[in-house]
Amino acid sequence: METIAFTRGVPADESFPIEEIIGCAEACLKQHGKTLLQYHPVRGFQPLREALAEQNGVCVDQIMVGNGSIHLFDLLCRVLYEPGDVALVERPTYDRSITTLRSAGYEVHGIDLAPDGIELDAFKTALETYRPRLVYLIPDFQNPSGATMSDEKRRAAVDLAEQHGAQLVIDVPYRPLRYWGDEVPCLSEYANDRLIQLSSFSKLISPGMRVGWMSAPADIVSRVACLAEDTYITPGMLPQGVVHQFLEKGLMEVGIERLKALYAPRLKTILAALDRHMANGSWVRPEGGFFLGLTLPEGVRSADLRQVAPEFGLKLSNGEGFYADGDGSRFVRLPFCALTETQIDDAVERLAQAVAKTRTAS
Ligand SMILES: Cc1ncc(COP(=O)(O)O)c(C=O)c1O
Repeated sequence: METIAFTRGVPADESFPIEEIIGCAEACLKQHGKTLLQYHPVRGFQPLREALAEQNGVCVDQIMVGNGSIHLFDLLCRVLYEPGDVALVERPTYDRSITTLRSAGYEVHGIDLAPDGIELDAFKTALETYRPRLVYLIPDFQNPSGATMSDEKRRAAVDLAEQHGAQLVIDVPYRPLRYWGDEVPCLSEYANDRLIQLSSFSKLISPGMRVGWMSAPADIVSRVACLAEDTYITPGMLPQGVVHQFLEKGLMEVGIERLKALYAPRLKTILAALDRHMANGSWVRPEGGFFLGLTLPEGVRSADLRQVAPEFGLKLSNGEGFYADGDGSRFVRLPFCALTETQIDDAVERLAQAVAKTRTAS
């Protein structure tokens, strides 16, 4: 029996636009070879920064392009940190963001997440209790739950963060990957000009290229740039040149449509398979992105399920890592994009069998 890994939130190997990237690499080296192969100002390739500034309606000095968005987040967390600082995150949230915040020194607290975004009462209480420096949210097709914040909650969360003087940081790498349903306005439409936004080309082109970007107030970009310069001098420039060509040639629009055509049937398949096989569990019904978060039936712990899973040819991730308080005892993240529809169908059926066995054993 082939083992199916329900663990890795990565793009499908078959999604990589290899021929287009070869073409873009050749074109950018011909046009900008000397710039891209030299040490370069740390904020990133100027034409790419300009394109991103235009796309996001901000000034170019508010844009920094770096080696993946998680690296920029790390630098940002370090720059903003003052001893004793607290950060609020969704509960659950992306496990690496919790690690990044903690390694910069923050005490991290989670706010309960509903299928339409954070619970506003809990958010208000946490703001009052902890007076956080940072609030980190993934409003669109959240990693790991798949939840998308409602329009109403976006407005309210922005107002609450502003009232309490907390710096809002949104991480939106999945936002362009909506497979169906109505678009919700970006949270940036409601925020003041202190909002910090992180995003990435990892899920739209390739994570191996390591190109992510941040839009932030110019003074914060300057501080992050100073730390970056002291750390790695110059980001990887050739991938930035490739991404710039990709945008210039209009390949991004085509690429996103291709990704949607590849991933939408996978999301449909996992939803149908859960409806068919998973009695008593509950899950968000995402309309895009890479993930679906499953809450196991009462009495089934994800740690026990993970132990049993290999007997059924399944690899599962540790739900607890996504919870700042280490709870998540009934949470399982199901990344569906890198699996074929047949694998997804099999994996969900096996998961249901593993749940039934774990339940009997407990
Ligand atoms: C919410 C979120 N932010 C950031 C990242 C990492 O992005 P990058 O590859 O640009 O560092 C991921 C990757 O899974 C993610 O899910």
